[in-house]
Amino acid sequence: MNLNNSVKNKSVLVVGGAGFIGSHIVDRAMELGAEKVMSFDNFSGVISDNLAHLKGDPRFVSVKGDLRNFEEVKKAIEGVDLILNQATSKLVTSIKDPMADVMTNTVGNMNLLEAMRKSGSSARIVHASTGSVFGDAQVPYNDTTSVKEPTTIYGANKLAAEHYHLYFAKEYGIKSSIVRYYHVYGERQDSRLGAGVINLFLSNALAGKAPQVCGKGEAIRCFTYVKDCAEANFLVANSNYTIAKRYNVASKVRMSVLELAEMIAQKYGAPGMKPTFIPERTGEVLRPIPDTRGIEELGFKESVTFDEGLERTKQWIAGQLQKQ
Ligand SMILES: NC(=O)c1ccc[n+]([C@@H]2O[C@H](COP(=O)([O-])OP(=O)(O)OC[C@H]3O[C@@H](n4cnc5c(N)ncnc54)[C@H](O)[C@@H]3O)[C@@H](O)[C@H]2O)c1
Repeated sequence: MNLNNSVKNKSVLVVGGAGFIGSHIVDRAMELGAEKVMSFDNFSGVISDNLAHLKGDPRFVSVKGDLRNFEEVKKAIEGVDLILNQATSKLVTSIKDPMADVMTNTVGNMNLLEAMRKSGSSARIVHASTGSVFGDAQVPYNDTTSVKEPTTIYGANKLAAEHYHLYFAKEYGIKSSIVRYYHVYGERQDSRLGAGVINLFLSNALAGKAPQVCGKGEAIRCFTYVKDCAEANFLVANSNYTIAKRYNVASKVRMSVLELAEMIAQKYGAPGMKPTFIPERTGEVLRPIPDTRGIEELGFKESVTFDEGLERTKQWIAGQLQKQ
């Protein structure tokens, strides 16, 4: 599939572009020949400078702005052809501060959609959601499973945002599609912010500390490499058939958290390192297994083996540890 059609010579806005997945989306939009790529981010969820390599590139601009501020959002979407929304308040934040989650994950999305509606925007938009919207629903989760039981405030708010996007697509003709990610890993996910089990375990192992497993570690996770998630956004944006549809985006790499911890301790930890155990987190879902046929029909496939993805992630973390 020729992905350049959705991007070449277009003006692309990546909301949350300074973050983990957003920064890879910025890179891919640049590679695909966008005329201009703007990252719009309030930098609340990042520590590392994920876009430093693009400074000085005339096709790239980084704007400090907040999704919670309607006027800033309205200005950012002016003249834009493609919007990829990656901004989020994190799951871990939603446990400590539920209102912060509401403000970015629901009000923020309403700002974006209202700004598009009120300005008559004909831009294509792909919104990033999460498998957390399903929670305790029956597995495998398919793209349109109607019964959802989110077990976290984060999942509940992300589910509300999905419905805003679907409603605005049907009622006002906003050209929105939804991608749902599951346990993304890779370069630029900063474990100091408490997200990403692979990056947390790797960071611990490389620093000589044993990976800490929540509960018994029996939860199964589908680990997806970050650049594959970035690619999925362009696969979806490339066709109008995907408007008002939702796509589960996940690899076929599935294992328990304990298996992962043991593998990382053995491969990257000091000799004899073994995982340690800490209490279960609230809202933990044991088998969040998605049906991914929809995105595969659009051409989604894994671009690297799990070993290769882990190795790239390890190298990035090792580089970060050297800088600290
Ligand atoms: N990382 C995962 O494993 C995972 C899994 C499922 C879904 N997702 C979804 O993928 C998307 C990207 O997640 P990520 O892991 O890259 O997160 P991230 O925290 O690394 O990136 C999010 C970015 O949004 C920015 N941001 C937060 N609030 C903002 C606001 N009010 N205004 C402007 N910018 C704001 C942050 O500064 C950050 O740069 C999110 O929608 C998330 O819910 C991620």
